Amino acid sequence: MKHLLSIADLSREDIESIHDLTDNFVEVSRRQIPKVPALRGKTVVSLFYEDSTRTRISFETAAKRLGADTMTFSVSSSSVKKGESLRDTIDTIGAMGIDAVVVRHQSAGVPWQLTRWTDAAVINGGDGWHEHPTQALLDTYTIRERLGTLDGRHIAIVGDIKHSRVARSNVLAFTALGAEVTLVAPPTLLPPSLEGWPVRVSHDLDSILPKVDVCYLLRMQRERMTEALVPTLREYTATYGLTRRRADLLAPRALVMHPGPMNRGVEIAAEVSDLPTATMVEQVSNGVAVRMAVLFLLLGSGTRAEAARVVADA
Ligand code: NCD
Repeated sequence: MKHLLSIADLSREDIESIHDLTDNFVEVSRRQIPKVPALRGKTVVSLFYEDSTRTRISFETAAKRLGADTMTFSVSSSSVKKGESLRDTIDTIGAMGIDAVVVRHQSAGVPWQLTRWTDAAVINGGDGWHEHPTQALLDTYTIRERLGTLDGRHIAIVGDIKHSRVARSNVLAFTALGAEVTLVAPPTLLPPSLEGWPVRVSHDLDSILPKVDVCYLLRMQRERMTEALVPTLREYTATYGLTRRRADLLAPRALVMHPGPMNRGVEIAAEVSDLPTATMVEQVSNGVAVRMAVLFLLLGSGTRAEAARVVADA
């Protein structure tokens, strides 16, 4: 594999082998000195045209834990503000010699465009409303860790599906691994057409909650909304928010997940995010290990045996 652009490019076996590789790196992250020299001499650049806290820091942490050098290119402090084009930007950082670029951009398709302009491995860190493949890899890894398997599990994805690249990548990853997916949202927060999506749809969260193994919540992405798609946030919370009362409808072991950033009090009540069945903290820590696996796959030998060897030697 040369790039990681989309979950759509991955088979079930590809996803499972990234999960297996992740197992090796989870252990490294728990060490006192969480570092292995697997990618020494390699340089990873993060090129972020959109705000991000966890994804950028997570990739940079992953690269550093593998011994790679990292550079950050954030739009607010770069020549992009002076009108530099994407092409010139990638040529400039390419001229410094880079092995991988992690890109986040407000337009769908930018990571594919970059693969035509650079020899570096390109990783999609989120492109518009389209995909966010490493989020789906870390979410499926977290579910596998908690529930053993996704096969035959029922997962509800609740909230602003329309604007969510996380939802698109997760629908693909969850169903590739054998889970059944129900999207729960008001019609205005669903994509105009769901043709080809292997999902069911419901507008009634209360009736779905008792039946699911995972309740995956999404943020209301107000920065992407050009019109009022819900009457008021209060009304949204009343109908679709995972309030404390609603969380009691879940089976005792059902997981509550959220990719972050959370709007506590809107899509999720503060007390619900602190339940033992809530996985947000694990999602973030697994995110680093999953991204280590992805970088190792694209820039290192990528084999499980080699990963086991560098991890054991360090
Ligand atoms: C998401 C994103 O930016 O796509 N966050 C993340 O990467 N963890 C979701 C969001 O912004 O709501």
